[in-house]
Amino acid sequence: MNLNIKDYLDFTYSLVSIRDLDEFMETSLKKLRNLLNADAGSIFIYSEDDKSLTFKYTQNETIDIPFKEFSIPLDETSIAGYSGLRRKIVRIDDVRSISGFPFGFNVNFDKMSEYLTKSVMAIPLVNAKDELIGVLQLINKKISDKIVAITDFQSQIEAFSKDDEAISYSLSGIIAVALDNSLLHKDIEDMWEGFIKASIQAVEARDPATKGHTDRVTKLSLFFAEALHDDTGQFNDFYLSKDMYRMFKYACLLHDFGKIGVRESVLNKSNKLFPYQIEVIKWRIEAAKYHLPEMKNELDACLKCVLMANEPTITESSVLGELKKCNEIKYEHPIFGEVKVVDESEYESLSVNKGSLTYEERKEIQSHVQHTYDYLTKIPWTRELKDIPRIACMHHEREDGSGYPFGLKSSDIHILAKIMSITDIYDALTAKDRPYKKALPPEKALSILKSETETGGLDKKLVDFFVQNEIYSLQQEE
Ligand SMILES: [Fe+2]
Ligand SMILES: [Fe+2]
Repeated sequence: MNLNIKDYLDFTYSLVSIRDLDEFMETSLKKLRNLLNADAGSIFIYSEDDKSLTFKYTQNETIDIPFKEFSIPLDETSIAGYSGLRRKIVRIDDVRSISGFPFGFNVNFDKMSEYLTKSVMAIPLVNAKDELIGVLQLINKKISDKIVAITDFQSQIEAFSKDDEAISYSLSGIIAVALDNSLLHKDIEDMWEGFIKASIQAVEARDPATKGHTDRVTKLSLFFAEALHDDTGQFNDFYLSKDMYRMFKYACLLHDFGKIGVRESVLNKSNKLFPYQIEVIKWRIEAAKYHLPEMKNELDACLKCVLMANEPTITESSVLGELKKCNEIKYEHPIFGEVKVVDESEYESLSVNKGSLTYEERKEIQSHVQHTYDYLTKIPWTRELKDIPRIACMHHEREDGSGYPFGLKSSDIHILAKIMSITDIYDALTAKDRPYKKALPPEKALSILKSETETGGLDKKLVDFFVQNEIYSLQQEE
């Protein structure tokens, strides 16, 4: 069999256009098998660390063999090991009568899989730097390209020829170079993913509540997007390519990264005043009792009122009234002059009607999305990942334009960001690790999401899909 220039070009073109490593390996193995009529084949990937070959890919036209990864040493005890070590193509006409080689054939594989291996050709994959990257093994060359039953193997399987060896030699070079590119691409991707995870760890170290949140929002958002991709109803047009999936995964992982730019004390603030502020008020009240002994009862009541108002729950109006009186109590200190028991900024913080944050602190927390955007836009993303900053920072935008940081309207918000807004709110409501609030049961969280669609906050169709298809249940399963 001879290949013409077109065959070579077709083979090369079909491989260089694949970036996904697994797809690349499967395709190159299949193409070579088809060209040489090999019934089965496998690829071992070489690891320089422990000088081993790992069985990573396998194909068999006759039987279904359950895949199990295993490693063999790069030595002369196996056909693949020998081929890789010697950098030589090895042709064995019949594995049951091997002669002139240091290895034999392990019949256990055939016994286990009920297959019958006869002819084998092992091809070392060596890159342009003359480094071994794997071994490709073709098994059982068929006389024709028809499917052959195992019972006919004796008559229908022949040995790989010198011509087959020559073809494999030239094509293995193309495979090795393309494989090297894929491995390099994968290394860069792994390195990048590692960097993202390390960055997230830096945020999580400052804000324990973000720890589980990032991971849960990422999983739930991807699950949600995949369900939309599979939908044959009103989201029939929604298509999630592999590149989009990866881009969305990174955007989810990085969505709250900007919290790195928010003060830790604000991120973790569980009450209206910081603990040190409460200690200072207590100290002032004790001092006031010394200077104003006639007001002891009022001062005791004042401390009680401060502690009640300090809780992040909704403050009763009667407590707010009492608080006003506390703010008016002052005494004369011999060094500092007039001292208020509860000063203006403490009074302002304690007067917040709901939650633990003042207006400025809330704004500071909200600035995390701007920080996310500013940070992520500094990264020179590849073409497929360029939307990451935009999507990551849009998770607090709202349909009616009331969101932040840009106040975008529905039509300007990316659908993936809308998905993340829903999962982000759902998780925040049901999270058990928030210092400032109790976790809500799923039913209550879902009804809040629905009410958000009525007030123009969230996309109604997406929330309905989230509820009706029980996307949220992924979190309960975990
Ligand atoms: Fe956020
Ligand atoms: Fe978030």
